[in-house]
Amino acid sequence: MDKIVQISDIHFCMKDKSHSSRKNLSLVLNKINGLYHEYILVLSGDLVMKADSAHYMALYQYIRAFTRNEIYAIPGNHDDIALMKKLAIQEEFFKIQDLLEIGINDIVFLDSSEKGEHLGGGKIDLAYFEAIKSKLRENSNKIIFIHHPPFKIGAEWFKKICLDNGDLLMKSLSEINNLKYLAYGHCHNYFIEERENTVFLSCPSSWVQFDHTEHHETKYDQQKEIGFNVFHLSDDISHETVTISVC
Ligand SMILES: [Fe+2]
Repeated sequence: MDKIVQISDIHFCMKDKSHSSRKNLSLVLNKINGLYHEYILVLSGDLVMKADSAHYMALYQYIRAFTRNEIYAIPGNHDDIALMKKLAIQEEFFKIQDLLEIGINDIVFLDSSEKGEHLGGGKIDLAYFEAIKSKLRENSNKIIFIHHPPFKIGAEWFKKICLDNGDLLMKSLSEINNLKYLAYGHCHNYFIEERENTVFLSCPSSWVQFDHTEHHETKYDQQKEIGFNVFHLSDDISHETVTISVC
């Protein structure tokens, strides 16, 4: 397997017919299938609009109609990680785990869904992260997937709902050898920056983007492209962000 596809912030809605989450997700999944047959799919949080079994199972069945590939999921602020773990044990469901080794690559799945100070914010359990870190192979190339960005980014209102203990996480990340990417969701938009040989990359929402030029309240940009990230694994790791127009 030499490809990981990241989809984020699906906000899957079962019933509301005017809600575009299902339609836009199908655009994304069709586009992925047009490009690749074999890939690992990662869902980086905010999977469903309502965190109950019915929504999670409906989303799982919906995606399964497009692909039989392996699917891993991490929770976002709209998710219920306890329920996701229960479904992963009891049903055919997305895989929930901390670490995946693919050849010379270590893929880390981080849970940031512990509630932050502000509604929508998040926190990680740093002691737990250190335990995961201790399992990483010294010379592997590494990607970390997490829902919340570990530093403040975007509109003023959004800066309040990034990772509460992001400073401590960033310090801990700096000790990791060959951390190539940290790929996050939550921001419903396109951001990329490189810090000390690590690319911090957002994944756009498969549903709708935020207008980060509006600083005082949450505003959606219905015109902006939806999209997904692709990571190509070889001796090194590279990425592309694929966009799809919804106008
Ligand atoms: Fe989110």
